[in-house]
Amino acid sequence: MDVDQLTFMPYSKNYDVLIIGSGGAGLSLALKLADHSINVAVLSKFALTSSSTYYAQGGISAVFDAEDSIESHIEDTLDAGAGLCNPDIVRLTVTHGKSSIDWLREQGVVFTEEQNQAGEIQLHLNREGGHSHRRVVHSADATGKAISLSLIERAQAHANIELFEHHSVVELITAPTGDDNGKQVLGAYVLDTKKSRVKTITARVVVLATGGANMAYIYSTNPHSSTGDGIALAWRAGCRVSNMEFMQFHPTCLFHPEARSFLISEALRGEGGKLVLADGSSFMQNFDPRGELAPRDIVARAIDHEMKKRGIDCVYLDISHKPADFIREHFPTIYQQCLDFGIDITKQPIPVVPAAHYTCGGVLTDSYARTDIKNLYAVGEVACTGLHGANRMASNSLLECLVFADRACEDILLKLPNILPTPKIPDWDESKVSDSDEEVVVSHNWDELRHFMWDYVGIVRTDKRLSRAMNRVELLKKEIAEYYGNFRVTSDLLELRNLVIVAELIIRCAQQRKESRGLHYTLDYPETDNSKPPQNTVLKP
Ligand code: FAD
Ligand code: SIN
Repeated sequence: MDVDQLTFMPYSKNYDVLIIGSGGAGLSLALKLADHSINVAVLSKFALTSSSTYYAQGGISAVFDAEDSIESHIEDTLDAGAGLCNPDIVRLTVTHGKSSIDWLREQGVVFTEEQNQAGEIQLHLNREGGHSHRRVVHSADATGKAISLSLIERAQAHANIELFEHHSVVELITAPTGDDNGKQVLGAYVLDTKKSRVKTITARVVVLATGGANMAYIYSTNPHSSTGDGIALAWRAGCRVSNMEFMQFHPTCLFHPEARSFLISEALRGEGGKLVLADGSSFMQNFDPRGELAPRDIVARAIDHEMKKRGIDCVYLDISHKPADFIREHFPTIYQQCLDFGIDITKQPIPVVPAAHYTCGGVLTDSYARTDIKNLYAVGEVACTGLHGANRMASNSLLECLVFADRACEDILLKLPNILPTPKIPDWDESKVSDSDEEVVVSHNWDELRHFMWDYVGIVRTDKRLSRAMNRVELLKKEIAEYYGNFRVTSDLLELRNLVIVAELIIRCAQQRKESRGLHYTLDYPETDNSKPPQNTVLKP
């Protein structure tokens, strides 16, 4: 067969396990499976490092301090989660903190250490909001980069792992199981964005590890990859989705025209950073006795309140009272990045605003990361395991990625021998579509969606704002469906199609919750409803 014929041949490849996502969740699971001689494909929508994991700063929560305890970590997590955490899942996750850190160290991740009073070397622990002890293991202020680079290096060297960069999933491939109207997953149609070609990749098991949906908002701390693709893919395939009203806004994103998505880690507040107004006066004590170290929902709402009340563009985070050497040593990335924007954090306060940061809800999974579809798993931020409830506590997310990668691995190893090879799947049909002549429709709708989500479905909501947002979602959905039906798929179009579904799910969940709880705050129902047991919001397709 000559080269031209090869190029135009439909592509079809088969694996034991197809993992969609190259962040902490996807790569950890890939490495764990590959060590058991399982043949794994890992897809990444952009470069392998384009993940929230790569940008994580503060660290991973785990109990190491002699004064700390598993019970205390559990209690803090439950408290931050405002009544909606699943206590069994919290215990399961928290008890695996130490083993998760040990595993990462075995993969070559280097964490920051310190000498204790007895002269022994031990892990240095950060403190963050909601934690009653120092318990955040970190690599200076670039923990995610250290984790990502180590895991990528390991995966690249592993004979059982094949990595596909710039491959974006278009749709999951499913078929009836033949019993109970159930469905099983068989693989995915995948757009090779460099070659503009849709491939068919089949696998006996498929894992969603696609991260969160925080790009649904115009201001976000996340990289571009966080468009909620996995949530939309699972929803379209027939999975239940839960708790999407609980979108977490990080209180402190750098406010600078050229640095919209640069995070200023909560660890700065853990080391004594103060939130202040332009005149230097502090305000957090007016909102919560824990001040700057109150859980994130409270701090973000307090900042939003001050900004709206005073008509100001930002507040300030000031750590300049600490010795300059200490700041440079503990926060080298933040120090340098701010300096590049003309802000010397050893001398000046940092202008900050809240920004969309983390998706607490997602694809409903059980304690082994199984979804409603047979052989389809979801791990990491894409999933709703019950760990975070109505508000995730800082640094519990990377821990969740590792623990549930482990759980999924255990279950997949057990099931795989009994899963039949995938049958031949028809290739993606492009015979009825043409190239788009109006890309502006996609870019305009991207902007519009992210703006109205920020304005109407942000930190403070009302019934009226939610219904305004829903009206716009309905219009966009029609326009996007028409566009999708007529034109060849592109990466931007796929993301927009997913984002509009995710926006709808966030709004629908928010509309169902007639109270304020955790991250969901509405002026129409400002109190938490304690008259009945708290309920998770569950949507069925
Ligand atoms: P991600 O790391 O986001 O990876 C998702 C992957 O899926 C990417 O490779 C992406 O390309 C791929 N993907 C998405 N859609 C598709 C598709 N359609 N087709 C193919 N591939 C696709 N948490 C903590 O616990 N501690 C912290 O200190 C911390 N700091 C943070 C700082 C920042 C700036 C941010 C943004 C988040 C932070 N978080 C932190 C949250 C945490 O980093 C994330 O929740 C976690 O890394 C998510 O990991 P993941 O593997 O689930 O998803
Ligand atoms: C941070 O470093 O502030 C982010 C921590 C997190 O999101 O868990």
